[in-house]
Amino acid sequence: MDLKEGSDNYVHGYSNREALRLNDQADTLDNIIHNDTIFPKESFVLEAGCGVGAQTKIIAAKNPDSNFISVDISEDSLNEAGKLIKSLCIKNVEFKQADLYNLPFKDAIFDSAIVCLVLEHLHDPVKALNELKRVLKTGGTLIAIEGDHGSALFYPDSKYAHSAIECQIQLQKQSGGNSNIGRELYPLFKSIGLSDVVISPRMIYADASRPWLVNGFIKNTFTTMIEGVRNKAIQEGITDRLTFEKGIKDLYRTTEPDGVFCYTFFKGTGTKI
Ligand SMILES: C[S@@+](CC[C@H](N)C(=O)[O-])C[C@H]1O[C@@H](n2cnc3c(N)ncnc32)[C@H](O)[C@@H]1O
Repeated sequence: MDLKEGSDNYVHGYSNREALRLNDQADTLDNIIHNDTIFPKESFVLEAGCGVGAQTKIIAAKNPDSNFISVDISEDSLNEAGKLIKSLCIKNVEFKQADLYNLPFKDAIFDSAIVCLVLEHLHDPVKALNELKRVLKTGGTLIAIEGDHGSALFYPDSKYAHSAIECQIQLQKQSGGNSNIGRELYPLFKSIGLSDVVISPRMIYADASRPWLVNGFIKNTFTTMIEGVRNKAIQEGITDRLTFEKGIKDLYRTTEPDGVFCYTFFKGTGTKI
């Protein structure tokens, strides 16, 4: 697998390691962010920015009586997603290449649209949300799930770990995105005129008594993501190698028996009126 395509400035890139990270992330967070991702029977659902299908496999399996169209801008990611869904014998998903700023769908055809960990990468999330709203039927629901790196807190605390996280925040900002977008879901949903807007914070709390989160979240999702910006952050002069490595070491330090790590995702729902 060689995932090279897609938007040039996508901060996480399209590497094999990133595909694995997205799957680890989705599997670890399943019960925390998708416990209530249940659509009414026979819903027609758009999943925007499906990537390699890491969330697709979860939401499609949870909703066997609904039909999904999952879109992404990266053709290579879509190919991987297609293979994954086929290998799991999931039959209610169709994949399509599409730019979520300009969706190839008529107005008002979907019962629901879901976008997961994508808005943080976009230079104009309002435009993308308006486009998702356009393709929703009146009364249809929009769901967005986003993280917020400002919500990361941990024990032992470390200025180096915060500085490594800040590298990711800066690089994402430089490429037009926003790593702290979770806290903005409410104003974003209100700004596009959705009604019944509800934002549900989903906190991940990990210590040694929850080893599946220590491995699945602190190590394989969060710290792996921060490690992924090492070379770019050093090249861009945002940090130096020694400071960055200290930060990564301190993030791993939180996975030791007395360590603690907390992070909050935000899940927004709203209705098109
Ligand atoms: C962090 S990945 C998330 C993938 C998936 N939702 C998940 O949670 O595993 C972000 C995805 O958004 C896609 N993307 C970025 N800009 C896009 C655009 N303008 N239109 C469609 N997809 C886009 C990227 O190609 C990438 O697959």
